[in-house]
Amino acid sequence: MLQTVGQALESLLKSRPELAKRMKDANALLETNPVEILTIPSDKCPHRSCDGSGWIWKKDWSKRTPEFREESDEWQEPCACYEQRKKQNEISRKIDLSGIPFIFREATVRSFDPLLYKSQKSIDTATIAKQAAVKFIENFEEMKNAGKGLYLFSEKKGSGKTRLASSIANALVKVHGVDIAFLKANDLLSQIKKTFSNEISTSEIDIIQVFRKVEVLVIDDIAIEKPSEFAERVFFDIVDYRLEHKKVTFFTSNKTIENLAKIYKEGRVHSRINKMCLELYLPEESIRDDEAEKENADIEKILFGQAGD
Ligand SMILES: Nc1ncnc2c1ncn2[C@@H]1O[C@H](COP(=O)(O)OP(=O)(O)OP(=O)(O)O)[C@@H](O)[C@H]1O
Ligand SMILES: [Mg+2]
Ligand SMILES: [Zn+2]
Repeated sequence: MLQTVGQALESLLKSRPELAKRMKDANALLETNPVEILTIPSDKCPHRSCDGSGWIWKKDWSKRTPEFREESDEWQEPCACYEQRKKQNEISRKIDLSGIPFIFREATVRSFDPLLYKSQKSIDTATIAKQAAVKFIENFEEMKNAGKGLYLFSEKKGSGKTRLASSIANALVKVHGVDIAFLKANDLLSQIKKTFSNEISTSEIDIIQVFRKVEVLVIDDIAIEKPSEFAERVFFDIVDYRLEHKKVTFFTSNKTIENLAKIYKEGRVHSRINKMCLELYLPEESIRDDEAEKENADIEKILFGQAGD
């Protein structure tokens, strides 16, 4: 005789009481708490609640009956890590968009190491620069209200100007959530030149507006060469706007602010930068040369070292 599915299940449960008990318990549990968490927690979530996506999928087994057919019985809820993750993503997005040099994306002020310099004078100068950077970040609101930025100077190349400016920029994004544009002075001009082919008007021109208005602007390596008349006009326009609107601007350069007067005519740029920035000295010692020497020694060992070295 043919059995129905129900009859088959009934006789199975009769012969296997432990299975019957498990099914009963499962049903009782579903009745008291019909919502099941479907997401499998992983270490990617700091709370070990979600799979690292910031969302938790849930299912309500009580909604499996026909009267709930129209409703979804599965949905997702934000995990406790969601807000943190959103903030983190926002920071990453701001850093990606900022143009902070790729090699310095992770650079922090804390890991800026004054003891890497050889002479005591350099170590002292780097220590003062580092302390000023920390203070600047701590007191950013005040700096912002005063419209003051920093001018990182050392005549020597490879002393850490771009490295320290990047570390400050990273901290301003991470701690204060600021919008930053970071670019080399030459790139600023070539970007504008590409767009305007020598015709600049100070009206509503998008790209200039970005550099005028961005919350914090970092211009790396200014005054490395004598600017063209066009370059000077654009540069003046941006600096002038930022000074008048008390916008925080950073510069790195191997010319002192005072020496800018010899490069930009009539002292117009020089006097403005003097007003909007505090000069911060970096050591007259190249870390880059040391790094290069060490890196090359390591590579030489790979290429020319004895077998078994
Ligand atoms: N105090 C420091 N701690 C850790 N790394 C440093 C420090 N100073 C410099 N460096 C390293 O030295 C190298 C050169 O630094 P950086 O590019 O900032 O020099 P620079 O002064 O901007 O040079 P240039 O005048 O050529 O632009 C980088 O690889 C940077 O990581
Ligand atoms: Mg540099
Ligand atoms: Zn989570």
